[in-house]
Amino acid sequence: MTDPLTPVLTANWGEERAWQLSNYERRGGYDGLRSALQMDPAEVVTLVKDSGLRGRGGAGFPTGMKWGFIPQDNPKPKYLVVNADESEPGTCKDIPLMMASPHTLVEGVIISAYAIRAHHAFIYVRGEVLHVVRRLQQAVREAYSAGYAGQDILGSGYHLEIIVHAGAGAYICGEETALLDSLEGRRGQPRLRPPFPAVAGLYACPTVINNVESIASVPSIIANGDDWFSSMGTEKSKGMTIYSLSGHVTNPGQFEAPLGITLRQLLDLAGGIREGHQLKFWTPGGSSTPMLTDAHLDVPLDYEAVAGVKSMLGTKALQCFDETTSIVRTVLRWTEFYKHESCGKCTPCREGTWWLVQILKRMEAGRGEQGDIEKLLDLCDNILGRSFCALGDGATSPITSAIQYFRDEFEAAMHTPAWELFPYERSTIFVREPAGAGA
Ligand SMILES: Cc1cc2nc3c(=O)[nH]c(=O)nc-3n(C[C@H](O)[C@H](O)[C@H](O)COP(=O)(O)O)c2cc1C
Ligand code: SF4
Repeated sequence: MTDPLTPVLTANWGEERAWQLSNYERRGGYDGLRSALQMDPAEVVTLVKDSGLRGRGGAGFPTGMKWGFIPQDNPKPKYLVVNADESEPGTCKDIPLMMASPHTLVEGVIISAYAIRAHHAFIYVRGEVLHVVRRLQQAVREAYSAGYAGQDILGSGYHLEIIVHAGAGAYICGEETALLDSLEGRRGQPRLRPPFPAVAGLYACPTVINNVESIASVPSIIANGDDWFSSMGTEKSKGMTIYSLSGHVTNPGQFEAPLGITLRQLLDLAGGIREGHQLKFWTPGGSSTPMLTDAHLDVPLDYEAVAGVKSMLGTKALQCFDETTSIVRTVLRWTEFYKHESCGKCTPCREGTWWLVQILKRMEAGRGEQGDIEKLLDLCDNILGRSFCALGDGATSPITSAIQYFRDEFEAAMHTPAWELFPYERSTIFVREPAGAGA
């Protein structure tokens, strides 16, 4: 089999001190910025549009088109905001990228801000990942010292201030409008749209919000061209991207490949499901994307094909679970997360996720009541499409898809606890040390 991997964003991750500016520059780092500064900002927007790059934060919205929505005749300042909040269960691509190669992001920030004619860029990163915050701050400092940020960048006359902002750790602050409220110093809750951020975003000014991976993809597009990028991937899903394999996988980790690769191919690269076990279910893009089963191993992992099997590519967080895993227990854990993270602004999500947890808890304990499956589906029906933001919708995905594929396990939850049907010690990956061991 020819190697399907296309390391671009991840190409330098294994190198000694890849995060340092000198090592990044040795591999051609900041050449993309030099080229971009020779171009008119509008040309940079066109190039990114033509590359076919789509947002890697979940929804897959075309990045160049989003930049094109910024009204350049608006006299207000323009802002670029990088969404580095990464909190979706299973999603783990942006944090390793920022740890291993923060300059890939910083270079992308400078080019992207230049393209939309912004002079302030913010990187909103989860405060809990202090090591990442520090690494980003160091990279930004290095960029200023080298003349890539600040006044008169590389003698071009263009100036940019970059601010690394640490969030306080709420999943909802990854939702772009809640992120803006949080960045402005308010409680992070989603805003009503319209107006969209491109028109009235940060401080009511035109704002582009993009995911870390989207922005980090920009330097390679500028350096290698739009044709190079669009030669990878499928008809409507272009380029390479980072797939994160986790769970019951022999060698979990990040695999960078063209959009359209299949889980079967990725599992081959990752050594397959752990020895002696079989795949039971998996998520294509984190817990808020409807789960799939072993019947979907050959679905091309691009936006269209995954939508074709009634799920979403999302963040390409491929969490794999083998036959030892209780579906009821897994869905309960995810639902507890959504209940905890619900910001409380709207009733369907705030109340609905609470009730979902109550029902799933008794089911996990084998004390499900007749009609509970219908009650779960009814609650989901009242949350999906009736919530103020996509957190509520996402909370229903694990439940409805789990009932679709594994209804028998929910029926068994009327009489048998999950821990009897699926003992914890069989599904656990990390063996707990006996008390006192290693002391
Ligand atoms: C509850 C919730 C959490 C989200 N968390 C993130 C996140 O951590 N990172 C991210 O890039 N996008 C997240 N998003 C999606 C953003 O709202 C937005 O679509 C994205 O940042 C746009 O960037 P892109 O066009 O580059 O994908 C989240 C959305 C919702 C509803
Ligand atoms: S759906 Fe949930 S997270 Fe979103 S606004 Fe409503 S309560 Fe808040």
